[in-house]
Amino acid sequence: MTTTRGLRDREAPITMLTAYDAPSAAVVDEAGVDVILVGDSMGNAVLGYDSTLPVTLDEIASRTAAVARATADALVVADMPFLSFGVEPAESVRNAGRLLKEADADAVKIESGPHTVEMTRRMTEVGIPVMAHLGLTPQHVNRLGGYARQGTDQDAAEEIVDLAGAHAEAGAFALVLEHVPANLAGAVTEALEVPTIGIGAGPDCDGQVLVINDAVGLGDWSPPFSRQFGDVRGEMLDAVTAYREAVESGEFPADEHWHVEEELDDLY
Ligand code: KIV
Repeated sequence: MTTTRGLRDREAPITMLTAYDAPSAAVVDEAGVDVILVGDSMGNAVLGYDSTLPVTLDEIASRTAAVARATADALVVADMPFLSFGVEPAESVRNAGRLLKEADADAVKIESGPHTVEMTRRMTEVGIPVMAHLGLTPQHVNRLGGYARQGTDQDAAEEIVDLAGAHAEAGAFALVLEHVPANLAGAVTEALEVPTIGIGAGPDCDGQVLVINDAVGLGDWSPPFSRQFGDVRGEMLDAVTAYREAVESGEFPADEHWHVEEELDDLY
């Protein structure tokens, strides 16, 4: 069983992948991935939105519960969606707590900034482990003006280093660094005692995370910093096409797929 403390003590790179449903969580868990993130990337990856902003706490809770039911070993981290935190401090803590109490998450992830340091401290104090997230934070797309690389000049890089330290000091058990220069990610990793998990942040983080659709080749687009390790979309397309053709040709269902109850012969 992966624990938040176990991650800190690990020698080997930490592996993290998103999952949004029970069957994929079961595969990710069986493959030995350390952490399953029920990311708000589900907005783009499975719910058909063009950003993460519309994702609700109910959607995260329902998907997290499905993932947790199918996971035996990995640490299950639920992402806090846009505006489920950061408005009222007490509401933020209650919403995070709900993901542990009702959805069986082991921890929450929060897209972080100056406003989440005290929130991280409070959640940690009441027993909610927090994974911080700095660099490109997609919930801020409207303020950032897009999904560009972050921390690329001296001031922006220093802000990330400072915020990383502040969140670690406030109790965050790990930190995601998204789409930042590799030398900045390396410097943050060097400075922190808690593990960093990078996405588009180079090889010097303590671990790596990808969105499952990108990693297995399920989507029709993936970001430049990810790699497709399979062609699940191609496999699905072949299987679904084969199904359609078999039905249309009468080849399916075959004799072994149906049965007759002789007792019913006189029904009509
Ligand atoms: O929502 C998500 O999947 C994420 C990862 C990309 C880190 O935040």
